[in-house]
Amino acid sequence: MNIEICFRKEVSSTNDWARQMAEEGALEGTLALADAQTAGRGRRGRQWSSPDGENVYMSLILRPRIHPENAAQLTLVMGLSAAQGIGEALKLPVQIKWPNDLVIEGKKICGILTEMSAGQDGIRFVIIGVGINVNNASFPEELRERATSLKLEKGEDIEKNQILDAVITAFSKNYDKFIKTEDLSGLVEEYNQILANKDRQVKVLDPKVPFEGVARGINTSGELLVERDDGKVTAVYAGEVSIRGIHSYI
Ligand code: BTN
Repeated sequence: MNIEICFRKEVSSTNDWARQMAEEGALEGTLALADAQTAGRGRRGRQWSSPDGENVYMSLILRPRIHPENAAQLTLVMGLSAAQGIGEALKLPVQIKWPNDLVIEGKKICGILTEMSAGQDGIRFVIIGVGINVNNASFPEELRERATSLKLEKGEDIEKNQILDAVITAFSKNYDKFIKTEDLSGLVEEYNQILANKDRQVKVLDPKVPFEGVARGINTSGELLVERDDGKVTAVYAGEVSIRGIHSYI
């Protein structure tokens, strides 16, 4: 993929900026990168704290010719790529909390927010926003148990560009694989190898009927397979539910 980096010191949200560029015709591979966000957004309407200079805030524009139904899997492709890129660059044990939070020893270091514009003619563009806690020296009391940064885990300042390069390089490779089959069949094994929830008890917060079981890994559509006490396996779709660990965040 041809990556063109567009940089600004401060934006409201790189996802919003990327959307604006996409609407104005920006090509696949255009990357919106900023040092700070004044209105960084997380999943489920949460805010994403975006202090100046310390971290990676970026949003990638894609124009995949795939069925809109399959676009949500791109979030998992990015989750896997960021985990592999960061893990290899820094030699840290980065894992994935399904569907796409990245954790080190159970604490979150990265979040991903994917947004799509589609019409009757299919997908117009997809924006994948990635926020990585790179150089935070500390976290507010209420987050300390659940969040960490690469600097805190590595014990030294981290070069932001090294992380950016590693993630984008891994994504280009994995994206090519995904586009070929329009599913995760070429990536599912690598994903399940670093899935933090694997073989752990999880609570599925299904809006209709919440239930508990053991997470066994994802299938080729990115659904999490959860095995209940009676052995029955349910495929859980990320768009509809979220999961919690029974005793911890994972
Ligand atoms: C989450 O875990 O809730 C997702 C967080 C996504 C944050 C990134 S930072 C870059 C991009 N711009 C945003 O406003 N959000 C995403």
